[in-house]
Amino acid sequence: MTKTHLGQSNYWAMYSSWFGRVVTDPNWMLVPIDDHLVHRGDGVFEALKWTGERVYLFDQHLSRLRQSAARIALPLDWTDEEIKELVERCIVEGRLQHPSEIEAMIRIFVSRGPGNFSANPYDSVGPQLYIVVTRFQPVSSEKRKVGVSLGRSGVMGKPQDWAPYKTCNYLPNVMVKKEAVDRGVDFMVGFDSLGFMTESSTENVVIVSQRNELLKPKKGLILQGTTMNRVFELARPLVEKGILDRIQEEDITQEMVMGAKEVMILGTTWDVLPVTIFDGKKIGKGVPGLITCKLQELLLADQSKKS
Ligand SMILES: Cc1ncc(COP(=O)(O)O)c(C=O)c1O
Repeated sequence: MTKTHLGQSNYWAMYSSWFGRVVTDPNWMLVPIDDHLVHRGDGVFEALKWTGERVYLFDQHLSRLRQSAARIALPLDWTDEEIKELVERCIVEGRLQHPSEIEAMIRIFVSRGPGNFSANPYDSVGPQLYIVVTRFQPVSSEKRKVGVSLGRSGVMGKPQDWAPYKTCNYLPNVMVKKEAVDRGVDFMVGFDSLGFMTESSTENVVIVSQRNELLKPKKGLILQGTTMNRVFELARPLVEKGILDRIQEEDITQEMVMGAKEVMILGTTWDVLPVTIFDGKKIGKGVPGLITCKLQELLLADQSKKS
């Protein structure tokens, strides 16, 4: 008998280029085991949010998907328009099964494709596209209001030539998440061999320094989050108004995080989350900061725009 689990009731629809169709029965949301995505992690992916009106930052996600695919010399045989149309089909078909839901999570995978079970990418018959739409599970409003805890990860981060790309080789990220769960901390953040902050398992971490600077880690160290980049754009007027002194990329040390005015987590699933505890100690007074709350508000307003 086929095994099932409760979480599958959150799966709306899946498109597979291998099957050439959209399915809504979770038991058919499958990837061929000889696809090199499965046995080598040979593929790239994106996770996006459908706000009920539109797919938020769709072009930015697709552009990052192309950059990731280029990094592993994976041809992306679909145009942005074709991918958008397939995503739309999944949303439409998924909503027929889940009409009361207004938001959804979309995951797009481009794999090396089925072949044999070797590591050789040339053994594959060609790239495949898989799109999965699932229920969006928003972060609790309590966490948004009260804040989350952040720990210092002991997991060795990804090398700089891989960190900026969203490949399906996410085992270091998995270990960072496991560490957080095992230690009872909401998120963990990495530091590289020089002591500079990197990122969390699937989210960026940024700080507001005592000098009122909004700072993010330098490019090579992290995935360029679509949320982080949008939040940094939305923050620009705060500099003009004198609420922030400046906005920039910088090498961020552990001491800078500990002594920061504010620390925040940014990502598609979380939007902007205040960090109130780092390594067991309070950030500032241990309550969400003004700038974090302002950026949270600006991002939610940006998402609720119709286009
Ligand atoms: C490693 C990593 N960093 C940061 C992010 C945040 O990126 P985004 O804001 O595009 O969701 C993600 C998202 O999945 C991620 O996997």
